[in-house]
Amino acid sequence: MATTIIHNIKQLIGIQDSNVRTVSGRNLANLPVIEDAWLEIREGKINNFGSERERLPELLNGADEVIDAKHGIVAPAWCDSHTHLVFAKSREEEFVMRLQGKSYEEIAAAGGGILNSAAVLRNTPEDDLLESAQQRLNEIIRMGTGAVEIKSGYGLTPESEWKMLRVIRRLKEISPIPIKATFLGAHAVHPSFKSNPDAYVDQVINDMLPVVADEGLADYIDVFCDRGFFTPEQTERILEAGQNVGLKPKIHANELDYSGGIQVGVKHNAVSVDHLECTGNDEIAALKNSQTISTLLPQTAFFLNIDYPPARNIIDAGLPVALASDYNPGSSPSGNMFFAVALACIQMKMLPEEAINAATINGAAAMETENETGSITIGKRANLWISEPIPSYTFLPYSFGRAPIKHVIINGSIY
Ligand code: NIG
Ligand code: FE
Repeated sequence: MATTIIHNIKQLIGIQDSNVRTVSGRNLANLPVIEDAWLEIREGKINNFGSERERLPELLNGADEVIDAKHGIVAPAWCDSHTHLVFAKSREEEFVMRLQGKSYEEIAAAGGGILNSAAVLRNTPEDDLLESAQQRLNEIIRMGTGAVEIKSGYGLTPESEWKMLRVIRRLKEISPIPIKATFLGAHAVHPSFKSNPDAYVDQVINDMLPVVADEGLADYIDVFCDRGFFTPEQTERILEAGQNVGLKPKIHANELDYSGGIQVGVKHNAVSVDHLECTGNDEIAALKNSQTISTLLPQTAFFLNIDYPPARNIIDAGLPVALASDYNPGSSPSGNMFFAVALACIQMKMLPEEAINAATINGAAAMETENETGSITIGKRANLWISEPIPSYTFLPYSFGRAPIKHVIINGSIY
């Protein structure tokens, strides 16, 4: 059996027992660490780890490959549980419109935003979409991401939604990291249904969804439940239809308003409710006594210049929080999880330990890959990264804007 030993690890972080699904509330601030550590990989999986003084000479002797971490830290790869990384074109012209004073919602209402992306994607061949998405996947793996969720939602017609989901399926087939697919037909109302949005909801449920289900094109169902997009009632219809064909909800909620999205998600046992910029006491009360994870996307608040989600209130209520990039062309054109972690600390006052847990083990749980990714645990995939020599993991959010990676290891091999 092929074994690899990584040694000279300054800090091995994110160690968890195999039965840990999420870390919540006060426990989020506990990031288990071994100082001066080694880690053994066998057949692409984490096989063992310990501190330098124990057993190391013997292990080094028996290894097929030895990687000297040179006093870098080793961490479980990021688990990015919310992205839209299949898209046809960037939208920097809308970025400039926002700099000139237009709001994200104004641009969307005038036919820009998601509708702009959908119009371009409709005329883009599937192979071209695959090629650009594969480049983005490659890019985020190089920045330390070891599992990712990807949504449809730039199709908005049956054919185009299926096309996007086929691209995600093809990415799954070629990807070295786990990918989860989410059907987001209800990302925006297609313009031809502008005067009758409920008829668009009918189309999502009656035309798009059956094929998505029959062909196994998605793992989850999503709705953009917010002011100007879909109402809680429409969301409820779509989630129920999705659940009837075995798709669990993972929804966009409360980005633009106190929209009722969080409550609808919780009512339907959503795996996660995502965004949550508009979250007050009622929303937090709904999240308590649920299994639903609050996924926060600080890069979106940063890029759109809107209020950040109240991470502290959510954590202090004892809840689990995940962090994700929301990588998409409109509201977060970056999949750099190091920056998401830095913003979580700088803007939402999460501690480095909390932010790292939220971007690893809790991110994995928010896309149900926690049995194979999200922590340093014997038996999980050896998806991890080795940093440059840095003083400690606290340096990661402190030195914002960088991805201080020396090596990315995917399934036990240097990527
Ligand atoms: O998660 N909020 C809804 N959807 C995306 C943005 C989509 C876009 O602008 O293209 C988001 O922020
Ligand atoms: Fe999103």
